[in-house]
Amino acid sequence: MSKITIVGAGNVGATCANVIAQKELSSELVLLDVKEGVAEGKAMDMMQTAAVCEFDTRIKGVTSDYAATANSSVVVVTSGIPRKPGMTREELIGTNAGIVKSVVENALKHSPGAVFVIISNPMDTMTYLALKVSGLPKNRIIGMGGILDSSRFKYYLSRALGVPASDIEGCVIGGHGDTTMIPATRFATYNGIPVSSLLSREALDKAVADTMVGGATLTKLLGTSAWYAPGAAGALLVEAIVRDQKKVYPCCVALDGEYGQKDICIGVPAVIGSTGWEKIIDLHLNAEEQAAFNKSADAVRSTNSVLGN
Ligand code: LAC
Repeated sequence: MSKITIVGAGNVGATCANVIAQKELSSELVLLDVKEGVAEGKAMDMMQTAAVCEFDTRIKGVTSDYAATANSSVVVVTSGIPRKPGMTREELIGTNAGIVKSVVENALKHSPGAVFVIISNPMDTMTYLALKVSGLPKNRIIGMGGILDSSRFKYYLSRALGVPASDIEGCVIGGHGDTTMIPATRFATYNGIPVSSLLSREALDKAVADTMVGGATLTKLLGTSAWYAPGAAGALLVEAIVRDQKKVYPCCVALDGEYGQKDICIGVPAVIGSTGWEKIIDLHLNAEEQAAFNKSADAVRSTNSVLGN
């Protein structure tokens, strides 16, 4: 079974590790952090749930010891500072760009064959940065934001409809930002029935608006950014990779003409398997949706432009 590394033992990284262990997605899981003892402590705490939760994944916590991550098939990058209430994800770029760059370079030295999953914010720009600094084939760099945003979209739709979230299909494309994400309402269904035929325009608009500020709402409540849904969504992406599932998830991937965009990493539905993202699915956006997508891409590109400084 494969080996997985998670860099960053903060709330998101540790939650992602916990879900991965409980799903037994690998025999070995390395949790790495720069803060002395934190990854070791969280790994030990999680290992002490192994008997209760009945999993055999061995979680090892290390402080900045990249040699311990060697030969991982997936590296999940969660490092960096989280949002404080009132902050946008984009405001984190100054601090997180340097961190993500060094994490990717260090991890790549020891796991040259890994697929990289980027969760650090601003996620679309950090994914683009990881692609550039790693020099890896584009398929091996996947940003995780769309699965999280889609899960929030399904949650809000399920509440509006009064049905289980697991009965809802829906995807969020575009950037992983409060104003850049695009909950694709036309493709959202309840057991195959378009939600637009079940909800009023007003209720649908509210689900969309709530989804877009889903992260900000939690940051306000928690004083820091969310972790249960981001961690679990990251684990779902890792599962599709290590189990070579060929599942379609909205993911941040490098576009080369698809969706009318080039030289950008942004959210679109993609088939995920053991080699990373394998294929982009064309949703055949209508003119209005394409205009929203282009606007989102412009915003992501403007954040990317800060990387040069
Ligand atoms: C969120 C952060 C993790 O959306 O981006 O909660």
